[in-house]
This record gives sequence, structure tokens and C-alpha cells, in this order.
Amino acid sequence: MKKSLILKPTEENIALCGKALREGKLVAFPTETVYGLGANAFLPEAVARIFEVKERPKFDPLIVHIANMDDIKEIANLGLMDNLQKNLLFKLIENFWPGPLTVVLPKNEKVPRIVTAGLDTVAVRMPSHPVARALIEKAGIPVAAPSANKFSRLSPTRAEHVAAQIGKEIDFIIDAGRTPLGVESTVIDLTHIPPVLLRPGGLPLEQIIETIGPVELSKSTPDEVHPKSPGMLKKHYAPSKPLHLLEDIYNFEPPPGSALLALTEPEPSVRQRYVKVEVLSPKGDLREAASNLFDALHRLENSEAKVIYAQSVPEKGLGRAIMDRLRKAAHS
Ligand code: TXA
Ligand code: MG
Repeated sequence: MKKSLILKPTEENIALCGKALREGKLVAFPTETVYGLGANAFLPEAVARIFEVKERPKFDPLIVHIANMDDIKEIANLGLMDNLQKNLLFKLIENFWPGPLTVVLPKNEKVPRIVTAGLDTVAVRMPSHPVARALIEKAGIPVAAPSANKFSRLSPTRAEHVAAQIGKEIDFIIDAGRTPLGVESTVIDLTHIPPVLLRPGGLPLEQIIETIGPVELSKSTPDEVHPKSPGMLKKHYAPSKPLHLLEDIYNFEPPPGSALLALTEPEPSVRQRYVKVEVLSPKGDLREAASNLFDALHRLENSEAKVIYAQSVPEKGLGRAIMDRLRKAAHS
């Protein structure tokens, strides 16, 4: 099998990858959250390749990425939203785009069904990462892009993670180093009033509520066959070895060969019980912790440890996204 070409984010390479995307090839690229696996959202065959490469079930819809505000109309049918809904959308866009916020809107008929998994809604996001913006701009089309990992595995925060999981199956990877936020975008469904939080992510829920008022937490259970947002599936974002959540790291004696994923530096008496320890944020900052989460999990996955114990973090700010990902990683 061929290997994908890993490219530096020069203007020339971005133009090359933009053209490749437009013509139906698959390009992995950095965003401010995680690396995405992009395809031309208007070409069903290209989008189908994303599902193949990721081994992703067809009922799991993709996010469509745009670089300009006006392009939202190419993707969504705002005519199907009432004034209140539009008002909430405009407030969110004004405050948080470009950035780690995905909005679910009524779909425009131009978007192929495979992108939205047959739903009448479409998820739209305008990323803030300069390389992502430039690439989408150059491509000149909206870009459907899930995280660039195999389905239900750890999300990639470095080009190396992409290369290791799917490098043999795609055309190009643009390498711009580590992604700054490290957790995926927050997904909010604006087709309901009040809007529904479908996935906690890089934009804290508190900031959304401050801007648009009440937001409902999604009630659909992870056991549904067709979950509203398959990011809600129980097992997701999982490392290849068992992971367990720990409320109290002090009164726990792990089995030999265990690794610890800690929020802050553990006391030496705790540290010595583990063969490997990853600290997410020495000063206990949840934003820093989120940005290190997948990176640390990738290292633990590749370490000699047989099992990973992850310390629970407070569920506020970015802590909500961290706990969401850890709970899903813990379910096996
Ligand atoms: O930060 C991110 O959002 C990254 C980067 C690459 O932009 N992308 C990402 O995509 O995380 P993915 O496919 O791994 O997650 C997309 C999430 C899934 O939970 C999916 O179910 C949900 O968005 N989603 C997409 N379209 C939807 C729709 N029409 N209705 C409800 N949920 C939707
Ligand atoms: Mg994903």
C-alpha cells in the first residue's frame, strides 16, 4: 500500500492540497481542536472514502467545514429556521466563529445525504486554525471532515498520530505540529429551542449559556441504535488498552503494570505505584489539561503499561469535555 505524503504547511503545499481536495482526494489537516480527515463535501464518492478509511458506521454524520461566513448558506437552509433560532445562531457565530463550535442546522439540499447520514440536519463549523482556513479557502469548496482517526479510537493531535492510524490509506497529511486545543469542537443543535448540547468540547458550555441563555443537555441515551450525535456512543475515543476512571487516586492500589493519567503531579507515594505517569497540567489548569489529553493517552497507549487509570477532573469549563472523553474511553 502507498504511504501518504506528509507536507509542511507552505503556501505551495496548501494550494496543492486544496486542489487535491477539490478533485476528490483525502487530505488530513490540522485544526485548532484535532487533526481532521477532509474530503470535498459535495462529492459523495470522496465522502464515502472517509467512511471506508475510518471504518466509520454510515449512521454517524460528518461536520462540514467552511472558511467564509457566506458559505453557511451553501450548506444550511436558514429559511427553515424561525427568527428566534436565527437570532441564537447569529449570536453564536458573532461570538465564537471562527473557533471550536459546531452548529447543527437544517440541511441545504446541495449537501449529499452521505455527509449527514441521511439526516435533514447538517453540522457546520468554521475552524480558526490558519492552516485549516487557508486550505478550505484554496479548495474553494466546503470540506467534510471528521477527526482523522479510525472509528472509536483516540483522536489525533499530531500528524504522527494520523500517519500511524490511517497514513497508508490517504493522499496527503499537512503537518503543522500539535493542535492547540486538543479536544474536538463543542456540538450544539440549533434546530431545537432551547438548543441542545450534543457533545461537550473545546468551547466551554458556560460561555455558550452566557451568550444565548439556556441550553439543554442531550437526553438521548448512549444505548440508542441511532444516537443523535454518535459522539455519544458509549465506547469512543478509546485507547487500545483498558482505561478506568479513578475518583480517589490516594486510596487505590493498582495492579502491577498500571499507568496513571493524573491531572496534577501526584505525591511520590502514589507515583511509585505505577510503571508510567502522565500529568495533564502541573498547575491543575483544565484548558492545559484538555490540550494534553489525547497526546498523553497516545503515549500511554504506546507504553509498556497494561492498563490505564485516569484521575477524574472537575466537570466545569474544559473539564466537561475531558470527562466526556474519559468516560467513553473507559467503556469497553
Ligand atoms: O473539532 C472537531 O469537531 C473535529 C475537527 C476535525 O473539526 N471534527 C470532529 O468530527 O470531531 P467527528 O466526525 O469526529 O465528530 C462529529 C460529531 C459526531 O459526534 C457527529 O455525530 C456529530 O458531530 N454530528 C455531525 N453531524 C450531525 C448532525 N447532523 N446532527 C447531530 N450530530 C451531528
Ligand atoms: Mg471523532
